[in-house]
Amino acid sequence: MDSIKDYLEKNKDRFIEELKELLKIPSISADPAYKGDMLKAADAVKVRLLEAGCDLAEVSPTPGHPVVYAEKIIDKNLPTVLVYGHYDVQPPDPLDLWDSPPFEPVIKETKIHPEGAIFARGSCDDKGQMYMHVKAMEYMTQNNELPCNVKFMIEGEEEVGSEHLDWWIKENKDKLQNDVILISDTGMISKDTPSITTGLRGLSYVEVEVTGANRDLHSGLYGGAVANPLNILSQMIASLTDENNHITIPGFYDKVQNLSDEERSKMAEAPFSLEEYKEKLDIKDVHGEKGYSTLERGSIRPTLDVNGMWGGYIGEGAKTVLPSKAYAKISMRLVPDQDWKEITELFKKHFESLAPDSVKVEVKPHHGGYPYVTPIDTVGYQAASAAYEETFGKTPIPQRSGGSIPIVSLFEKELDSKIILMGFGLDTDAIHSPNEHFGIWNYLKGIETIPWFYKHFTEMSKK
Ligand code: BES
Ligand code: MN
Ligand code: MN
Repeated sequence: MDSIKDYLEKNKDRFIEELKELLKIPSISADPAYKGDMLKAADAVKVRLLEAGCDLAEVSPTPGHPVVYAEKIIDKNLPTVLVYGHYDVQPPDPLDLWDSPPFEPVIKETKIHPEGAIFARGSCDDKGQMYMHVKAMEYMTQNNELPCNVKFMIEGEEEVGSEHLDWWIKENKDKLQNDVILISDTGMISKDTPSITTGLRGLSYVEVEVTGANRDLHSGLYGGAVANPLNILSQMIASLTDENNHITIPGFYDKVQNLSDEERSKMAEAPFSLEEYKEKLDIKDVHGEKGYSTLERGSIRPTLDVNGMWGGYIGEGAKTVLPSKAYAKISMRLVPDQDWKEITELFKKHFESLAPDSVKVEVKPHHGGYPYVTPIDTVGYQAASAAYEETFGKTPIPQRSGGSIPIVSLFEKELDSKIILMGFGLDTDAIHSPNEHFGIWNYLKGIETIPWFYKHFTEMSKK
């Protein structure tokens, strides 16, 4: 396995060029205008998987965007690793905040990435991290280092809630049988502190619509006498959290698992500088639920956030108007054992009850997902830990993340598998934001570490 370093040295320029090619395809799953590019990206992934040594690769249709499935089965008696990733990306908006166009990848140096980072939408989330697995596969097949069977499942709807995946997984249950699922779609603490993600938050996403009068009104003639839906919506939203930043929806915390003092003090050992955190975000102070640290607020506690709010006049200059309608998109991040369907119902009931008779309110649920926490005493975790030790010379720290990958709990439920989250991104890589980037160092380190996981997992499985 020591030849991985040489292989990387010889091939890294090509590895970077290939990723750039993939990043040029605007595979935006949320926008129907990019349906053609979604197919183009799926096909490109399929071709690359075949080139990397898979015996079979196909673009498998769903009622939404297709899934790319590929495999190399070398011996039915050996373990099987199923790699999951996604080829879809978030919309790049707002475009004017990008320093270079989102689908024209460029390499630039940053303070954290002196070796250079690839700037493009999807560079870190998730094309760059997914492609590490394709190149690790190439290395293993080219150098006779593939110790077990491999399956790839690269989907195109992760950024829109993996709506059709439930159906696709049930449909392909036999084909997906595996001994462990390996995913690189999260982050790590820092370049010199490797970590393995042991938890993800769930999600409930809703949209609300508040209607006042049946038409927009002159704010002088009617203002003060008729409800302004924007004012009312702001008040309703403000009442969803109290003075301790506790969420006020009745029953919201009922199923939240509280961590023991021991677990919490273990968490507090992870390296974290609040001063640096604030400085990087240019904020004077942090904000959140009373009684919890910043790390806890961002991982083991549930949240409620307005993602967007609109209505009325937002054009140039001033217009005096009482809008007829006001809207907001609200997300709630959930932790074990909150059930996103139940939480969505609780939100709906509560939000409707908040509305005064002067307005009508409608709550439209969007997508959601279940939270996930994995133990660390599994073969998969131990193999991942050993892999990081090989390439970082350090034992990785288990860490729960605040983000969501709805498919993960579905995998556990449907396939009864353990999921290992080996992320190589950094929090500062600006995923979902303008100027998303992925460090070249991180990209190559990922390709170097993955084959070690296969080796240790296969060896440890034999015992
Ligand atoms: N890869 C992210 C999730 C993530 C990022 C987890 C970093 C942990 C660390 C994923 O692509 C994502 O953005 N998920 C969405 C959920 C989805 C339903 C839109 C999210 O977390 O907002
Ligand atoms: Mn992702
Ligand atoms: Mn994402």
